[in-house]
Amino acid sequence: MLTGRSPSTSSDDRARPDVAVVGAGPIGLAVAWRCAARGLRVVVHDPASGSGASAVAAGMLSPVAEAYFGERQLTALLLASAALWPTFAAELTEATGAELGYRTDGTLMVGLTGDDLAEARRLWAYQQELGLPVTPLRPTELRDHEPALAPRVRGGALAPTDHQVDPRLLVPALRTAARRAGAVLVPQPVRHLSEVDARVTVVAAGCGAAALTGLPVRPVKGQILRLRAPGGVAPGFRHVIRGYADGEPVYLVPRADGEVVLGATVEERSDTTVTAGAVQRLLRAGVDLLPELAEYDLVEAVAGLRPGTPDNAPILGPLPGRPDVLAATGHHRHGIVLTPVTADLIAGLVTTGVPDPLLAPFRPDRFDSDAPASVGAAGSGAPAGADRPDSTMEEDRWS
Ligand code: GLY
Repeated sequence: MLTGRSPSTSSDDRARPDVAVVGAGPIGLAVAWRCAARGLRVVVHDPASGSGASAVAAGMLSPVAEAYFGERQLTALLLASAALWPTFAAELTEATGAELGYRTDGTLMVGLTGDDLAEARRLWAYQQELGLPVTPLRPTELRDHEPALAPRVRGGALAPTDHQVDPRLLVPALRTAARRAGAVLVPQPVRHLSEVDARVTVVAAGCGAAALTGLPVRPVKGQILRLRAPGGVAPGFRHVIRGYADGEPVYLVPRADGEVVLGATVEERSDTTVTAGAVQRLLRAGVDLLPELAEYDLVEAVAGLRPGTPDNAPILGPLPGRPDVLAATGHHRHGIVLTPVTADLIAGLVTTGVPDPLLAPFRPDRFDSDAPASVGAAGSGAPAGADRPDSTMEEDRWS
């Protein structure tokens, strides 16, 4: 247990950090901020803070629209973290003065064709079974919410409690907050955990966690576009819009400054090449749902690597046999929404030594063949997707 300044007396111990965080993306920085705010000496190692998945992330805080079949415990964690977001954002703005692009307009989920709508309705029914706030809308209601939607869009539903934040504003704000709380950022890579000297090491290195820890974190490529409304005006829609367009999953995230994030592919690849086919598919799907996008400037096409795990859930807690090394990685498609809860759970574990019960399904040892079957993120020990109603795979989901 680490509580505030170390009572150690030797000069070596006084110089030694209480916590070393490997990785200065949103997760690592938020962990560092929360630990430093508890009075711990914190060092964060990263040669290129914010250059990982968060640099391309859309910033949807969508525990409702992203509640997928077979992921109940992950959904519970997403909901817990989304509930922390308003206070987390307010504290971050108070600590730094930074605007985060935090918006509370909700997610509009839509289907372009009859088939798209049928697929969407199965998911909405599941989300409603979980008790989540999903309100199916009649076509006129849908257009009342977003008049810019294409007349062809067959139907939709509103998830009013989903929010969004701009990750490109969030990460610098977290860096400032962590520094102001006393954390020291060291712009050096860590290639082996033996290079780190601290009482506790937190590995928040995204895809890099695999090489450092041996945990099953793999890159999952996402290609994503940024468009901009002409004339410096806000986009002609205010909700996050996500849906299928002729079977193509797509999301559109409007920002107040005119930017629209249009994403994203989900590919089992580790390169960051942008391909013509992906750009074409994303643009077609986006323009089919919102025709005005055809008039927008295309300002960026990039690819990033999400840190995926075998069950799509993050890996949080001590490495097997290494109580001094805590994993905070594998957040896959949910790194931004899971930032506050991860920071609080890991900082709590660092300071008390007692794992919060929320951590139990996400322990690093759940992938060991001799680990208890009940700790899987699906809650049953079954492979991810085993309780889905059909063979729906990651690539087919609502992105
Ligand atoms: N969370 C959005 C994505 O992974 O594309």
